[in-house]
Amino acid sequence: MPSFRVETPQRCYTAVVERGVIGHAAQYIPARAGKLFVVSTEDVWRHQGETLARGLAGLAYEVLHLPGGEEHKRLAPLEQLAEEMVRRGGDRSSLVLAFGGGIVSDMAGFLAAIFMRGIPVLQVPTTLLAQVDASLGGKTGVNLVAGKNLIGSFHQPLAVVIDPALLDTLPEREYRAGLYEIVKAGIIREPDLFRFLADRSRDVLARQPQAVDRIIADAVRMKCEVVSADEREGDLRRILNFGHTFGHALEAETGYTRFLHGEAVAFGMRAAVYLGQMTGHVSAEDTVEILDMLQIYGPIPPLDGIPAANLLARLVHDKKTVQGKIHFVLPVRIGEVAVVSGIEEKLVLESIRSALS
Ligand SMILES: NC(=O)c1ccc[n+]([C@@H]2O[C@H](COP(=O)([O-])OP(=O)(O)OC[C@H]3O[C@@H](n4cnc5c(N)ncnc54)[C@H](O)[C@@H]3O)[C@@H](O)[C@H]2O)c1
Ligand SMILES: [Zn+2]
Repeated sequence: MPSFRVETPQRCYTAVVERGVIGHAAQYIPARAGKLFVVSTEDVWRHQGETLARGLAGLAYEVLHLPGGEEHKRLAPLEQLAEEMVRRGGDRSSLVLAFGGGIVSDMAGFLAAIFMRGIPVLQVPTTLLAQVDASLGGKTGVNLVAGKNLIGSFHQPLAVVIDPALLDTLPEREYRAGLYEIVKAGIIREPDLFRFLADRSRDVLARQPQAVDRIIADAVRMKCEVVSADEREGDLRRILNFGHTFGHALEAETGYTRFLHGEAVAFGMRAAVYLGQMTGHVSAEDTVEILDMLQIYGPIPPLDGIPAANLLARLVHDKKTVQGKIHFVLPVRIGEVAVVSGIEEKLVLESIRSALS
């Protein structure tokens, strides 16, 4: 069973990737834990609640529902849930099991971070995006009107239990959006994964179990390594933002409704590849390979009517813009990226135009 260690100053834990592991979920609940709160959404619970219930058979737990949707990823529902947890006997010995996509990973993780000044959370992600990204690394939080994830906390989980079989009920568009984060993993650090994604795209898109399990394990291992080397986003963790600077601008510009996160990242990777080529960081050959790969796993929804200048203006307001300087993660070759700042605005605008066209 592939399992990977995450070692951070805050906590050391394991991420397990195994088809069917959900059937043994109970074994990841520490014997000494107090009340167990399963935090999910009604949608996820309808699809996969029974599966988790079977894995938790014999244990006592309470199920709490968060509203789904990015627009409800706010502090208010967490306050309500915390009140509910207290009413149901929650205390400092309680444990949260986060069961859902990235929204649940972030929200239930943050709830655990602040409930009674912090209780443990077990992450059991149910979307591809959450399995390879959101559930790993300890970043938790919710949105403010001013922007995404503007309040939050680093709260590393007890463990991350990843069962690729949970993806059987995931809608096609959500599955593809998650694949883009795996493509990202290939481009930034995993040339073998990139090759596999290129050679076996048919199997990957058809959700052939062996192919799916392999790409998830590769992407999870990569993220575990990066987070272990750098929990708090110094230079190494920054490489995970490949495609995200431009992607966040697109998400914000379209009100978080037109594109899924992974789709926006795919757009962002395209812009970053063009920028990398214009600034001489990446060869024309690798540029074509990366653009082809994004095409294979696409297309993303149409980009018409989005002014390039608006996206440029939004880049400047990104949370990750430090002291007015935009750091771009640009490809150098397949499997390697560089963090570059001080790029002329004219070139950035041009790369956005190319990615939009
Ligand atoms: N903390 C991090 O490091 C990190 C990293 C990446 C993304 N995120 C966050 O993740 C969020 C997006 O996550 P997401 O893309 O998983 O979206 P999501 O949580 O909204 O899930 C997408 C949809 O899939 C449904 N769903 C979930 N599991 C299912 C299943 N097994 N079967 C059928 N339907 C299922 C959900 O109900 C929802 O409608 C964003 O808020 C983003 O900020 C966080
Ligand atoms: Zn992402």
